[in-house]
Amino acid sequence: MPQADTSVDVRLSEVLSALTYALDLTEDQPEGHAIRNCMIGMTLADHMQLSSDQRSALFYALLLGDLGCSSNAAKVTSLFGADDRTTKLELKRIDSSNLLQSGLYLLRSAGRGEPLLPRLRRLLGLGLQATTLSSGLIRTRCERGAEIARQLGFPEDTAQAILDLDELWNGKGNPLGKKGEAISLLGRVLGFAQTVEIFYSAYGPEEARRVARQRRGTWFDPALVDLFFDTIAHGELFWQKLASKELITDIGAYEPPDRILHADQDKLDQIAEAFARVIDAKSPYTSRHSARVAEIVRLMAAELNLPPERRRDLSRAALLHDIGKLAVSNTILDKPDKLNDAEWAQMRSHTEYTYRILERVRGFRQLAQVASAHHERLDGSGYHRGLPGGEMSQEARLLAVADQYEALTAPRPYRAPLTSDQALKLLEGQVGTGIDPLAFQALRSAVEKGGVPAPAPKEDM
Ligand SMILES: [Fe+2]
Ligand SMILES: [Fe+2]
Repeated sequence: MPQADTSVDVRLSEVLSALTYALDLTEDQPEGHAIRNCMIGMTLADHMQLSSDQRSALFYALLLGDLGCSSNAAKVTSLFGADDRTTKLELKRIDSSNLLQSGLYLLRSAGRGEPLLPRLRRLLGLGLQATTLSSGLIRTRCERGAEIARQLGFPEDTAQAILDLDELWNGKGNPLGKKGEAISLLGRVLGFAQTVEIFYSAYGPEEARRVARQRRGTWFDPALVDLFFDTIAHGELFWQKLASKELITDIGAYEPPDRILHADQDKLDQIAEAFARVIDAKSPYTSRHSARVAEIVRLMAAELNLPPERRRDLSRAALLHDIGKLAVSNTILDKPDKLNDAEWAQMRSHTEYTYRILERVRGFRQLAQVASAHHERLDGSGYHRGLPGGEMSQEARLLAVADQYEALTAPRPYRAPLTSDQALKLLEGQVGTGIDPLAFQALRSAVEKGGVPAPAPKEDM
């Protein structure tokens, strides 16, 4: 695997803004959603009396507002009986505080394609518990997002803004129904910026302005809306910049110049661990998969005495190998039955997404090949490239074995977990054709020494 260039100074905003592509995919938002949120909020912040520390906290909260987005995906699928990504996208485009609009949306979409009776049962259940359900879904998402922001070392102002992202000025928001100035100022900016972005991306500037005006004093702080119209909403330059492709790579220009944050090697490890949590939260069946694959592969690398830099990169590749699963619906990831051909094709696309996401990220680019090759097999029958063994690096071979062992010993929607002995036996049968002999040997030694952590049980939703 090509080594990371440790001499290069990586800006934290470069790493994290590139990773927001994965968050946009989770929510089915158009590419650049989080980055445009950030630009809208920071442009507004230029006209507000904020300290540099607050601006910095706001910059990262705007970028990472969706950090908790994967944590309610499985629940959305099971409640609505529909694709979590489409449902979330559509819910963002209706006025969820409007009973009529929400009711019509439910009638149109929940349980689409189900037989009449189960569908009626689902609709009744959703209708009766609508308030509790939506507050629960948003609570999970906001609390998890805030928790990961804290894990990444961001200040409490950033975490608080993420917690308040879906609160509304009139007190009818979620999860706590905070009202007016009880909602943190940065949280109000986040809520406003995300809505303007969603309507701008879907329908253009005119609709974004209309929604901002219409929801003044109900959803949004009137002072923020007035500031938006007094300063930026009518300026052509603002909308041009928002539409420009360059914004995706140039968002760092909006970070407060006297508070530029950098990512050293430890910070990159922390980011890989934080995103592993985002990935693992997507499905209750894989609630510790990435973290455990990384633990297993680290033990295997130790068995083979790999040098420290290669171990570090291998561990990061393991933490991020399934990041492409964020682009796959939970209707497929959590399906208890056999997948049909179209569903399989989507499932298999996750490694390609892993490649596409990681190749954008400065600091993680060198991991893209290894991380995305974890379903390849020595005989070339794997996916997504069908690479023959000769083209798989040693790291890719190790990761492929660790991934399979972890998956076999953890519960899945369609089967119970295998014991360690059963999993080793099954893998042994593939040595030389599917999996690398040396990698298998390293796994067996690590397992025999007893260091491999026990699998996590299926998480309650
Ligand atoms: Fe995978
Ligand atoms: Fe995996």
